[in-house]
Amino acid sequence: MPMRLLIVSNRLPVTVLDEQTLKLRESVGGLSSGLGAYIDSAKTAQDFDYIWVGWPGRTVKRQMREKLKSALLSGFKAYPIFLSETAMEKFYHGFCNRTIWPLFHYFPSLAVYDEDYWTTYVQVNEEFCNEILKILEPGDVVWVHDYHLMLLPRMLRDKAPNNAIGFFLHIPFPSYEIFRLLPSRWRKAILEGLLGADLIGFHTHDYTQYFARCVLRILGYEPSMGRIRVNGRLSKADTFPMGIDFDKFHSAAESPDATKEIERIRKTLFARKIVLSIDRLDYTKGILNRLRGYEAFLERSPSWQGKVTLVAVVVPSRVKVEHYQLMKRRIDELVGKINGKFGNVNWTPILYSYKYIPFEQLIAFYRTCDVALITPLRDGMNLIAKEFIATKTDGKGVLILSEMAGAAKAMDEALIINPNNVEEIADALREALEMPEDEQIRRNKTMIERIKRYDVIRWADDFIDTLLEAKKDQERLNIMMLGPSAREDLEKNYRHAKKRLLFLDYDGTLVPFSNDPQSTIPGDELLSILRILSGNPRNEVILISGREKSVLQRWFGKLDLSLVAEHGAWIKRKSEDWRISKPLSASWKPLVMPVMKRYADRLPGSFVEEKEYSLVWHYRAADQEAAAVKVREIMDDLVSFTANIDVHVLRGNKIVEVRSAGVNKGLALIPWISKADSEFILAVGDDSTDEEMFRVLPDSAYSLKVGTSESCARFRLEGPADVLRLLEELKDADGQSTRKVPALQS
Ligand code: UDP
Ligand code: G6P
Repeated sequence: MPMRLLIVSNRLPVTVLDEQTLKLRESVGGLSSGLGAYIDSAKTAQDFDYIWVGWPGRTVKRQMREKLKSALLSGFKAYPIFLSETAMEKFYHGFCNRTIWPLFHYFPSLAVYDEDYWTTYVQVNEEFCNEILKILEPGDVVWVHDYHLMLLPRMLRDKAPNNAIGFFLHIPFPSYEIFRLLPSRWRKAILEGLLGADLIGFHTHDYTQYFARCVLRILGYEPSMGRIRVNGRLSKADTFPMGIDFDKFHSAAESPDATKEIERIRKTLFARKIVLSIDRLDYTKGILNRLRGYEAFLERSPSWQGKVTLVAVVVPSRVKVEHYQLMKRRIDELVGKINGKFGNVNWTPILYSYKYIPFEQLIAFYRTCDVALITPLRDGMNLIAKEFIATKTDGKGVLILSEMAGAAKAMDEALIINPNNVEEIADALREALEMPEDEQIRRNKTMIERIKRYDVIRWADDFIDTLLEAKKDQERLNIMMLGPSAREDLEKNYRHAKKRLLFLDYDGTLVPFSNDPQSTIPGDELLSILRILSGNPRNEVILISGREKSVLQRWFGKLDLSLVAEHGAWIKRKSEDWRISKPLSASWKPLVMPVMKRYADRLPGSFVEEKEYSLVWHYRAADQEAAAVKVREIMDDLVSFTANIDVHVLRGNKIVEVRSAGVNKGLALIPWISKADSEFILAVGDDSTDEEMFRVLPDSAYSLKVGTSESCARFRLEGPADVLRLLEELKDADGQSTRKVPALQS
């Protein structure tokens, strides 16, 4: 069966100009042109089918919608999502282009924080989700694109948990300091929204890192090797620098149409050198800086006056947003000023046009121009830079590129400039125009090879392959989940067993973690389940925890449970008193305490807990990024400091613990399991210390790992709520729930 891909982006690759006459044009922008090229190349592939879901570019009257939908579907495999004028105003012009776009491009002063925009953003993402669900089939791969739809992966995940879902961000992901400017509710929802995807892709390594950092600092999920564990699921963040359809640009540059157009342009511009500037109208593109740089160049290099022309193409975009209108006026004025200042009847320094350039003409411009001047203040990637180089079939031409564009990361051979510095632009222009041809060819050769190798088809294939791989990892994890049939088996074995042992860890297993360990007191529901389970004469329930015995005694002392405290240092068999499992020494504690205290003092929010035979440094409530560094340091420090002391140093869930050697949960449960009279053994735990207990269990035992981290357990459960559901079922499994239950002493 061929794979079916649902591409989802705000804008469809075609924009409807008139729904009555079905007048369409190609959409503008890197997302549409890049993905469009991938789709074109994939059209001939046997193993691939697709539908592109998105907005058709204008508000379409209700009575015209069905007709337009079937025309777009049959002609372009495009599934339109119709949105009202008001929704588009608040969603597209509002939250997308007045909040996210400026903020993610490091223009925080232009960002607007409007609750109404946010509500509509949520609603439109929901609308996309509902429409997709109408056409989504099992096995479809969904690929969501760009900042308009950052909540969609999570929404889809909730409704279609088994489909592979990918997300790609075509703009920069900003640093934490910028991202945190979003109100806390929004920023959390955006990160959670993105993490609904199996794979989240970014153009550059920096953006991926910034995202991982925000996830850690805002949500507290610690990424490891690009994988982020989110409630029983894995999500992966990785870097895929988007490419172009190299062959299309390279071969078009030699086509007869392009050659004719090149001759026409050359004739118009005489023998002058040509510098090309081309962008969508956008304040992020640094068009004003570029014009100022050109002005400075003409001033500083008078010998070039009259011998060079700047062809400045500005493509209309987002004309309803006021900052774009302002930018347009300022560009018009500056072009007029420069032309007036330097030009004469024989020479116009800047040829300026404000319109969309079709492909053939664009190629001719790329091919004719000697220098491309691309100076965005921020740009996710910038495909124009790559397209310019791809058309240089003779290897001649110079690219001046801003270091703020994602494309600069893989185009070192260009003249890289800081677009905020007008002098740098002016100097680079002179260097470019005077660069010897052999140097131009040498620089371009390497870039051409790179652009050719990782073209847009490789980019998309690479993304989809990684997505499918991530999905397989998830499925492997799912197989281990205690699904309905394994659960049924477990319950059957439980019912048939005359004698059963239930080993239960506490924190992270029966209750979720909290910043304050003292606050995770067992609730009534849990106490009632434990009371009924332990009151069943066929059961022995052993609560096996790292907690101090005094805490366990206070919380569970009134139940008919066996208790194991401090990972096995202390044991209390039911109806007996606490006893120490073996002679242990705590004389090491005064030596180790100052080391741990030092870290607690230096990392705000962390603290040291002292138990009888162990010391624990807790960092759950600290800044997670700083903690990630400190935890490595403290581990190193403690391991070398305690080399000659009889203790173990171990990492747990947001803790580092030093405890007396010779105790662990595995050793603690041996006396119970070695009696071999139990027909059913269950052990549930979430932490690395629970692995010690899983390891010593007989093969027939049910070991259950809570969460997704590495484990030798047989099965997995998602979280404490899932554990409670299972225990609830077991408590009722042999109909003894209401009999022989000792009353709780008060
Ligand atoms: N483009 C075009 N005609 C124009 C201007 C641009 O076809 O008149 C295309 C260009 O070929 C490129 C895309 O629009 O593929 C612009 O992508 P880029 O990543 O450079 O910038 P974005 O507009 O996405 O910010
Ligand atoms: C950028 C964005 C795209 C967007 C394009 C054109 O490339 O990343 O998502 O489609 O600009 O902008 P527009 O607002 O016209 O869709």
